[in-house]
Amino acid sequence: MPIISQSASGKAILLGEHAVVYGQPAIAIPISSRRVTVRIEPNLTGPSGKLRVIAPILDLDLDYMDLPESHPIYQAISLTLMELEIEQIPTCTLNISTNLTVSSGLGFSAALAVAIIKALGEFLGHPLDLETVNRLAFICETFVHGHPSGIDNTTVTYEKPILFQKGFEPKMLKPNKALHFVLADSGIRKSTHDTVAQLREELTLNPDYVQTRIEEIGNLVRKASPNLTDVNRALQADLINRNQEILRELYLSCPELDRLIDIALSNGALAAKLTGGGKGGHMLALVEESQIENVFSALNQASGGKAFHTSLLAEEN
Ligand code: MEV
Repeated sequence: MPIISQSASGKAILLGEHAVVYGQPAIAIPISSRRVTVRIEPNLTGPSGKLRVIAPILDLDLDYMDLPESHPIYQAISLTLMELEIEQIPTCTLNISTNLTVSSGLGFSAALAVAIIKALGEFLGHPLDLETVNRLAFICETFVHGHPSGIDNTTVTYEKPILFQKGFEPKMLKPNKALHFVLADSGIRKSTHDTVAQLREELTLNPDYVQTRIEEIGNLVRKASPNLTDVNRALQADLINRNQEILRELYLSCPELDRLIDIALSNGALAAKLTGGGKGGHMLALVEESQIENVFSALNQASGGKAFHTSLLAEEN
């Protein structure tokens, strides 16, 4: 069997996180420079039927059968084997490396699942089509997030900007002008599972307060340029800024994120908000090309060197 390497990108949510769990639309983009890479090689000298998993980022070096069944790596491997109707566990070593950070709002768990499923299918001689990869990655996500909307695994599987709404085909978006973003890490680690559960509880305690805001977030997404073509930056900036205010009203921001958002805005960003589960993790700023350097320097300094820039290139429609 050959040595196989496959990778999957991270993602950021431009508008609509959390509300998307309750059926509202949301827009997400891939972050191609931040990835999870999975390299699989046959283990010619190792004991037969043992699949060794090495993942330094998760402090793991063990036989896959020793992982708890609820572990997303266990799920990604067994779902792929089941999908391919392969009963014999391949004798190999699966190495996971990444420049993404865990629990930081950039879709690490989705990228992990997608990269494993793609790599293992290929290693076994049956590369899976993207629809199947996405379906299996969604199941893995349920073990991490509890009740995921599916936006993370879908964005990461197709590695395209998407308009996502539960129960509908995802719509691939094509910006007709380049869009530039600077992201920075608050340094706070917070699991999406917990923030999704927190909002669910808040919804039971204060149904009207929370429901109105969930619907308002959905309306912001509907107002955003429907396919990012006719990009009206001012409108998009207002929508992103208002989305952040609502997320704050839903107790999903935190002082560290608020500070970075203020710094981005006072250094020339058009708009800024948290991205992903919130209460920590990354924030994202929409910037004009001429302001990338300013905003990046300010955020990089404020985050202790944890800022980076990403762009969506213009595409023909
Ligand atoms: C996490 O990236 C996005 C959330 O909306 C959860 C989900 O959609 O599964 C917070």
